[in-house]
Amino acid sequence: MSYVGFIDKARKKALAHAPANKTSYYDTLSGGALLTESGNDLADRPQPKGPGKRRTKEEALAILEEPLTNRDFVNGKNMFAASLCSSCHTMRGEGGNIGPDLTQVGTRFTTKDILEHTIDPNKEVSDQYAATIFTMKDGSSILGRLINEEDGKYFVSQNPFSPQTLREIPKTEVVSTKHSTVSLMLPGLINRLNDEEIKDIIAYMVAGGNKDHEVYK
Ligand code: HEC
Repeated sequence: MSYVGFIDKARKKALAHAPANKTSYYDTLSGGALLTESGNDLADRPQPKGPGKRRTKEEALAILEEPLTNRDFVNGKNMFAASLCSSCHTMRGEGGNIGPDLTQVGTRFTTKDILEHTIDPNKEVSDQYAATIFTMKDGSSILGRLINEEDGKYFVSQNPFSPQTLREIPKTEVVSTKHSTVSLMLPGLINRLNDEEIKDIIAYMVAGGNKDHEVYK
């Protein structure tokens, strides 16, 4: 649902280039009437300044050589939202529940582990959050998170950004199921951030969203 806002923004930018007498025509053609307010809050959030970079794990870890101090709380929180982390993760009671609550992540992991997991989500995927691969009798396969089993059917959530939309799969059509080793978390989400923004987003997790934490001193 969050993507509606992004798509609408892109659509409006494109529309600005249409000749004035054709605006209404292209507005209709590009689905103006189908779009709702939904997701526009996300599109309007402060975005990274960048420039971003596709970093190797070593390059990214080098950013954290010095201990985190004097970081910017608000910027970290904004980067956490702009990078979609909050769509799947809860911090201090706010956010999504596709992935684990990250409020305590700083007490369980080192700073570098947090960054490493963010860069390479597939390194370790816990069964609790893993998606399931359903191999079907017709040879096809279906990927998603198994939410429920009832009345001879599996109920599967396939879109982390619309988790409440469930697909029903009759058990009689399924040959086998297994956990996927690929994380639902997308790699590269922090590629848009510059080094300082990476420090702020990592500090936000280390602090568990607590603005009195020592990383802000
Ligand atoms: C599409 C949903 C989704 C998005 C978006 C997402 N994550 Fe995740 N994340 C998950 C899932 C699911 C797991 C648990 C399974 C796994 O380890 O892959 C996870 C695990 C983690 C973990 C390990 C936590 C633990 O307790 O093991 C960290 C740290 C993390 N994510 C950080 C981030 C950050 C930072 C962002 C934004 C840049 C982000 N995630 C965006 C779904 C997501």
